[in-house]
Amino acid sequence: MAPTPINATSWTFADTYVDEDDVLVAARARAEEVGVVPIGAGTGATLRFLSAVLEARAIVEIGTGTGVSGVWLLRGMRPDGVLTTVDVEAEHQRLARESFKDAGIAPQRVRTIAGSALDVLPRLTDGHYDIVFADGDKREYGAYLSEALRLLRPGGVVAFDNALWHDRVADPAQRDDETVAIRDLVAQVAATEGLVPALLPVGDGLLVAKKEWVPESD
Ligand SMILES: C[S@@+](CC[C@H](N)C(=O)[O-])C[C@H]1O[C@@H](n2cnc3c(N)ncnc32)[C@H](O)[C@@H]1O
Repeated sequence: MAPTPINATSWTFADTYVDEDDVLVAARARAEEVGVVPIGAGTGATLRFLSAVLEARAIVEIGTGTGVSGVWLLRGMRPDGVLTTVDVEAEHQRLARESFKDAGIAPQRVRTIAGSALDVLPRLTDGHYDIVFADGDKREYGAYLSEALRLLRPGGVVAFDNALWHDRVADPAQRDDETVAIRDLVAQVAATEGLVPALLPVGDGLLVAKKEWVPESD
């Protein structure tokens, strides 16, 4: 028998279980100023958890925004871990740097690269990263997956925000470009050999997949 779905009260309880501090509240206020939609607190707590469990040293983020997700990821990483974060809007990254400074993060721990993700990602090192977190242009999610599979070390994790996209992905009647791109990605991740996937119902949906270890040959 399928489990009974949780109700909205339980979902909100779970999604706000880990509080945000003044640093994240200020980063959210910056996001509102420039019309950026940051990840929710539940997604942030999940990303910090993944980053901590993997003891991440190197993470790529696509879509810096004003630094909400970056602060969460950095707080889970090893103290010497470096976040490489890409955004097409230099002004968003300027605001994100304020958020990182507020959080007391040393400047050498964040590499901000201004540019379009699909121009920048091919320049990053193969197999070097513990996590690739995607929150950029939804229509490019399929291409981000290809880049992520190259960038991740075996055992690393790729994560995509907005995997449920405002309840549109699960509704086949919704056929706009962004919904279709995310729906295709969700199917592609499930079908890709060598990935261990899960679609987590936190925030607006967080699709995660671990890149499996490759068995050593004799
Ligand atoms: C949803 S916001 C990211 C929010 C951020 N992850 C957070 O939670 O604080 C999306 C960001 O992606 C950037 N973006 C959109 N298309 C992009 C692209 N093709 N390449 C790089 N960044 C892009 C936008 O400028 C915006 O800052």
